[in-house]
Order: sequence, then structure tokens, then C-alpha cells
Amino acid sequence: TLALYTVPDAAGLGALGASFVEVLLRDRPEPVLGLATGSSPVPVYRHLATRGLDLSRVRAFALDEYVGLPAGSEQSYAAVIDREVVRPLGLDPGRVAVPDGGAEDPAQAADAFERRLEQSGGVDLQLLGIGHNGHLAFNEPGSPLDSRTRVERLSETTRRANARFFPSLTEVPRFCITQGLGTIRRARHLLLLVRGKGKAGILERALTGPVDADCPASILQLHPRVTVIADEAAASGL
Ligand code: GLP
Repeated sequence: TLALYTVPDAAGLGALGASFVEVLLRDRPEPVLGLATGSSPVPVYRHLATRGLDLSRVRAFALDEYVGLPAGSEQSYAAVIDREVVRPLGLDPGRVAVPDGGAEDPAQAADAFERRLEQSGGVDLQLLGIGHNGHLAFNEPGSPLDSRTRVERLSETTRRANARFFPSLTEVPRFCITQGLGTIRRARHLLLLVRGKGKAGILERALTGPVDADCPASILQLHPRVTVIADEAAASGL
């Protein structure tokens, strides 16, 4: 089933999204949370930080990471997650896994990440954003619907969209490690967060168009438990 909530703004999205995480904490002794980067989930993290919850027993897995950034780069998703999630929410850094984009052998790092995720018993609640081209994590159009964590090349659309976080486009990495669509589909509950008019078209395509690799986010239609929280602008096409 798919539940769609429309909220007026980022504050509404943050408050409602945080409530799903709070319910997870109440229901599970050892909750496993899937973390997303990008701007869409940020209000959820901000809101969670104000609730004063004890998140120290949460285990968390990130969706993706750039490959080949200089060590200690502030644009790496490991750094972003540390800054925006782990510290403000008081997660235990030892329980937070991000694919190792600095590994000598990134393909091996991708496999190791997938194994660690499997051994954890799987993600209970996976936060997700959607890219302008319908990507989920860094699964670009054309990604197999049953793919696992692997090394991928970033599309030029995505490099340009993410250039805003870098000094210039040339510094945006060309490769990444990303959870696969098959990996994401195994999470027990998917929570998609979408903001802004610019995402209205792709959100409509993902939820109501054909399920195929041209729009990776269309796999949401195959999942038994999906919640979408969209602001009014993003939901305007539905
Ligand atoms: C990046 C991330 C995705 C994210 C997407 C959308 O490419 N790898 O996981 O969903 O951007 O980001 P935003 O929420 O900023 O639009």
C-alpha cells in the first residue's frame, strides 16, 4: 500500500517525517534506520533533533557515497551524515554505516556494505529522496530493478544537480557506491520525502507511470509499504 501525505511546507514535512521515526523507536528494540542525504530529508533530521529522543540504540545505513573524493572531504556523504544526522541526533557513530568511497577497491567496499546490511537483519524504515531524473540513491535511469550495492557512474544531470555543494562542476566525482534498487526494496517500510515544484513531474511519473528502469523510483509501486510525504508544490501533479 502507498500512503500519500501532503504538507504545506518543509516544517510540516519535518514534523510528520520525524513522527514515523519516533514510532519506529517505540516499536523496535533495535531499530534499523536507512538514512538519505540530499536536501529533502534535512527538515526531518532537524525536527528529530528538537524532540530529545534517545537514538543511541539505532543502527543506521546510508544509501550512497561518492567515490574518489579526497580524504576528509566535507562533501562526502559520510561527512554530511556525521554533521547533519549523527552529531545532532546523538547516534552512536559505531552503529552508522556509510559505503566506503575512499576504499582502494570500491567494488569490494560495495559488497562489504551489502553484507553488513544483510547481517543487520535489514532496514526497518528507509528515508528516501527522489532525483530530478527519477533516481533513488544513485540508481540512475537504466539501473536494474533488482540491483544490489555496487559502483556506478553518475549521470551528467546528477553531477550538475549536485554541483551546488562543490566549488565547481569539475570537482563533482564521476563515480559512486550506491545501494541497489533491489537493496532498497528489501527495506520493510519506505518513506519518500519530496519538496518543491521542480519534483512534481517526476513524482507523478514515479507513482502513476509505468514501472521500469527509465524511472528508478517507479519501484515504489512494487513495494508493500510506502509512505510519501510531499509538500503542496511537489504534490501538485498528483
Ligand atoms: C542525491 C542523492 C539522492 C537524493 C537526491 C535528491 O543525488 N544521492 O539520494 O535523493 O540527490 O536530492 P534533493 O533531496 O537535494 O533533491
